[in-house]
Amino acid sequence: MAVKIGMLLSRVRAEEKLLADEMERRGLDFELIDDRQLILPMDQPVRRWDVILERCIQHSRAEHALRVFQDWGIPTVNRWEVAQICGSKFMTTSALLRAGVPTPRTVIAFTEESALEAIEQMGYPVVIKPVVGSWGRMVVKINDRDAAEAVIQHKATLGNFLHSIFYIQEYIRKPGRDIRSFVVGDETICAIYRSSEHWITNTARGGRASNCPVTPELDALSRAAARAVGGGVLAIDILEDEDRGLLVNEVNYTMEFRNSIHTTGVNIPARVIDYVLQVARGEVEGQPASAVAFS
Ligand SMILES: Nc1ncnc2c1ncn2[C@@H]1O[C@H](COP(=O)(O)OP(=O)(O)O)[C@@H](O)[C@H]1O
Ligand SMILES: [Mg+2]
Repeated sequence: MAVKIGMLLSRVRAEEKLLADEMERRGLDFELIDDRQLILPMDQPVRRWDVILERCIQHSRAEHALRVFQDWGIPTVNRWEVAQICGSKFMTTSALLRAGVPTPRTVIAFTEESALEAIEQMGYPVVIKPVVGSWGRMVVKINDRDAAEAVIQHKATLGNFLHSIFYIQEYIRKPGRDIRSFVVGDETICAIYRSSEHWITNTARGGRASNCPVTPELDALSRAAARAVGGGVLAIDILEDEDRGLLVNEVNYTMEFRNSIHTTGVNIPARVIDYVLQVARGEVEGQPASAVAFS
């Protein structure tokens, strides 16, 4: 049976180009679905695709579209539940804790007063993050009470509703780098170090990528983190703590990988497409039965 893949995207970035090239190379039947033009009639399932590969830039679009595709019985990479969890740093921390995956200490507060109190209790430096966000935006490190008061007041005054939840985390004194591992299904396929002079090491913010060997420890932790959020195609952000070892910072569900293919020597887009085909064929648990069965 020929599988028709729909790749949902906002723009063809480097990653989407690499994925499309891979599908093209294999002669697969695929369609690029632009989320700017997409209309989803919720009560009238569109039966054009056997599987959806979600590559939206905005979490809100991804989350809504994935839910509709799931309602229509179309398997998706990743699943809606996974996007729900990974799209929220709060939900991610909650899932990691429930699964017993080591993660930095995090507290939640709702008011300016309790947030300041929480920070003082935790001790400086602390990190505050928007619950939804990426590329290191609005992720701030706070070194003293003056800065804490300033950030809290700015968030309360200027922020939208997303900033009304204070997500406060201990700062991990890591060795000038983070680890990002890539999990596809049950396998940690590769990992990179992201090194930077700045404590925020996102490659979108100038962090340099180099190969990181996948040790048994890194492999086990990465797969545990992936499982904790529901599994799929995921990039795990990991911090190295001097005393506690590896801590999972967050899990990304629409992962960027352009800087990691040459660095690791692993053909990441090929591995992603392999997985998408497995999902389409119903070989991966937790997905609706292939849409073909419904038509
Ligand atoms: N608690 C922390 N301690 C030390 N560094 C952190 C901490 N939280 C985040 N960082 C750094 O900031 C970067 C961005 O934070 P992250 O939580 O991954 O948000 P984003 O979704 O914006 O990538 C991380 O990749 C890491 O380098
Ligand atoms: Mg991150």
